[in-house]
Formats: sequence, C-alpha cells, structure tokens
Amino acid sequence: MEEKISLLEKEAEEEIKKVKAEKELEEARVRYLGRKSTINQLFSQLPKLEKEKRAYIGRRLNLLKEKIERLIKEKKLQFEKKEEEIDFTVISPCLHVGRKHLLTQVIEEICQIFKNLGFQIIEGNEIEDEWHNFSALNIPLEHPSRDVFDTFYLDLPPQEGGKFLLRSHTSPSQIRVMEKFSPPLAVISPGRVYRPDNPDASHSFMFHQIEGFCVDKEIDFSHLKGVLFYFAQSFFSPQVKLRFRPHYFPFTEPSAEVDISCIICQGKGCSVCKGKGWLEVLGCGMIHPKVLKNCGINPKKFSGFAFGMGVERIAMLKYRIADIRIFFENDVRFLEQF
Ligand code: DAH
Repeated sequence: MEEKISLLEKEAEEEIKKVKAEKELEEARVRYLGRKSTINQLFSQLPKLEKEKRAYIGRRLNLLKEKIERLIKEKKLQFEKKEEEIDFTVISPCLHVGRKHLLTQVIEEICQIFKNLGFQIIEGNEIEDEWHNFSALNIPLEHPSRDVFDTFYLDLPPQEGGKFLLRSHTSPSQIRVMEKFSPPLAVISPGRVYRPDNPDASHSFMFHQIEGFCVDKEIDFSHLKGVLFYFAQSFFSPQVKLRFRPHYFPFTEPSAEVDISCIICQGKGCSVCKGKGWLEVLGCGMIHPKVLKNCGINPKKFSGFAFGMGVERIAMLKYRIADIRIFFENDVRFLEQF
C-alpha cells in the first residue's frame, strides 16, 4: 500500500505539472481527487488495516490529498495570472490615430492656393524688433499698438532695431523679405503672432496670421482684387462674393477691409453674419511708398499690394467653430472631428 501511495504521488505530481489548459486541470482533479479516484479507493481500504498501520497510512493519504489539492490550486493560479498579463499585440478598440491639427490643415490649404498663383512661402521670425514690427511698416511711435497692453516686449537689451518683442502680426515678414530680396516678389508668410489679450471666445494671446504681398513694376489694385477673388473662391466656394470697404492701415495706401458674402446664409442675413450678409475676412491695400523706401525699394519704379488674414477667424467661419479657445485645448473629441 505504501508503494501504491508513493507511485500515486509521483504520477499526480508529474501529470499536474504537465497540464496546459484549465480543462485538463479539471480532468486531473476529478481523476486524482474525485469519488472514483485511487486515493478514495485507498481511503476505503483503511478499515481493513491493523490499527497502527491504519493511523500511519491514513496520515500519509491525508498528506497526499492535501498535496494534490495544493498542486491543483497553484496551477489554477498560474492560469489566472496568465489571463491577467497584458497582451501588447492586441489592438485597442479606442486607438487615437494622429492627424494634422485643423489650423495646420487650413494654413496648408491657404498657402497651396497662393502657391498655385506663383507665390513663394517664407516664414518670418516670431521674435522681432520694433523696427520690423512697427517703424518700417510706417507705424508711428505714438500708435496704440506699440503700447505694452498690445505687444509683448521681451526682457532683452535693445539693439539698433529697438526693443525685442513677440511679433504682433505677420506684416514684419514683408520687411524681412523686401530688405533681403529685390522685386519681382510674390510671397506668402504664415505664422504665429502674439498679443496680450485676455482669452475669451474670440481672443487668444497667441494666434495665427497669413501675410501675403506682391511687388513688381506696375502692380495696382486690380491685381490685389484678382488674387483675393481667386483665393476666396478657391477656399470658401466658387459662389462667394467679395466686398472691399475703405479702411486705414499705416502700411498700405489706399487700404481696405475685405468681406465675403456670408457662407452660411449666402448673404441673406443670419446669426453668424449678424444679419449683415457679409463676413470680414482680411485687411489689405497697396504697400505704402514709405514702406518700400524703408526696405530699399524705389517706390517710383515699383509698387505692390499686401494683405493679412487671421487663420483662426477664417477656420472658425468655414468650420462653424464658436470659440477660439478650442483650437488650443487639445481635446481629442475636437481634434478627431477634422
Ligand atoms: N497686420 C494687420 C493686422 O494684424 C493685417 C493687415 C492689414 C496686413 C492690411 C496687411 C495689410 O498686409 O495690407 O491686423
């Protein structure tokens, strides 16, 4: 009998070790501990044994039973642990696929439209000086936009261009290009601009603009109109109408603000255009002769047009976005919509 117990112990140990699936483990449990198991048969033979041997064999059988139970439990735990282990090859159902930010898409689309017309893309500097951001653009010293409430000045020692600042518009790109290159020029310059505004639904202290300008012999207002028509009809819709309203900018003369017919109500009047039927989209004009001169270009020989638009404003109109702050919050629910 002792031999049988030893054999059974060895057999059970080896078999449980080999088990690979939970189903097999359950089969082994029934085989070694179930009603018809060898161990149960051995237990039933106990009464036939002499008293002393009975106690000894009984103890061994109990120990063996406990050992088999323990081995099965350990194996079961191994299976459960395996299930909990992370399988890195499984594809998550909530995988977020990256894409270009809506503002990047809009900037690229606008730049492409102007590229089709032969414009070149040039990025300016985000850190500028007073000369490039204001003076060269014919913005007088007393102009309110130079105030610390309207421009972020940097805590750096001033140099010959004056104080350093975060550019408040992309117009200094005009100056940078015209100082370095001679006409003919047709340039588009997108980028970030900064103004100390308190954030609300239509203000952000950082936003994007796209500047465009063209300088050559005999450039006049009709060229500006043609280029902007092409842009508005390509970007918004072929049906869109344009309206030029006289305006004032120090760096252009004459200057205008450009409205498009409302893309939501087609000019009938709605809440987006506030009943006017028109939406303001950009500022433009003929480059002021003083600005050309500041860049070493002879205004008697050359003329040019320039325009500037706010990217967020245009994206908000086209994609019906009500709050500028959503562009910068990186809420995945917003990012995934475009
Ligand atoms: N720099 C102007 C602004 O930030 C926009 C602008 C208006 C740019 C007229 C131009 C222009 O080039 O001709 O509001």
